[in-house]
Amino acid sequence: MAKMRLDKLLAGQGTLSRREVKEMVRRGRVAVNGAVARTADLRLDPAQDQVEVDGRPLLVKEHIYLMLHKPQGVVSATEDRRQPTVLDLVPPELRRKNLFPAGRLDKDTEGFVLITDDGAFAHRILAPKNKLPKRYTAILDSPIASAVAEEFQKGVDIGGGDTTLPAQLSILENGENPRVSVIICEGMYHQIKRMFERFGHKVLYLKREQIGGLPLDPALPLGACRELTEAELKQLVGNWL
Ligand code: URA
Repeated sequence: MAKMRLDKLLAGQGTLSRREVKEMVRRGRVAVNGAVARTADLRLDPAQDQVEVDGRPLLVKEHIYLMLHKPQGVVSATEDRRQPTVLDLVPPELRRKNLFPAGRLDKDTEGFVLITDDGAFAHRILAPKNKLPKRYTAILDSPIASAVAEEFQKGVDIGGGDTTLPAQLSILENGENPRVSVIICEGMYHQIKRMFERFGHKVLYLKREQIGGLPLDPALPLGACRELTEAELKQLVGNWL
């Protein structure tokens, strides 16, 4: 990890401002490698150097990765004047500067949203060339022909000059309101709704169930958010990235 300033490191971990961190340092509450830090602009390597606050080791993480079970009615934005955003659902102990949703779900879509402060990572998982699959379940408004699965496999012209990459459609239950599973590898605007629209179907309900190799935790209640473990992050990325 690159070297960074002590005050930037501490302020980036949670809810403390740089001014508050400076004050803690001034009061001798922060130690680096066993010695009381004299100045907040001390440069250190978060991966190597041991930082203690009030005698307790600081677990330094350069970035944070969160799984949110997004409910309907919440927008995938960092701020909105009128509507609740996915960041409003991040509990205070997990809040950090520069958090954002890595990939957007529509306001009426539920499911797995990855929230992070790691721009380079987000860029990699979203890049269509990396073809990281995202799995959704949907409920449609009318019976579906099995031939639509073959059309999805070819890639679908969804209008506006957009054609999707090959996508996988599985019909889980057919009938008046079919339940289907769809795997797509990119995230164009309203992509799944537009894909079904092309074949005359309206999506009544949509939920993102999985990103890459990592399914949404079935024990995570709607609206809840938690940090991913290292193992889960690896599972998400799989062999794609
Ligand atoms: N496709 C959509 O149409 N909406 C979403 O929220 C995600 C994928």
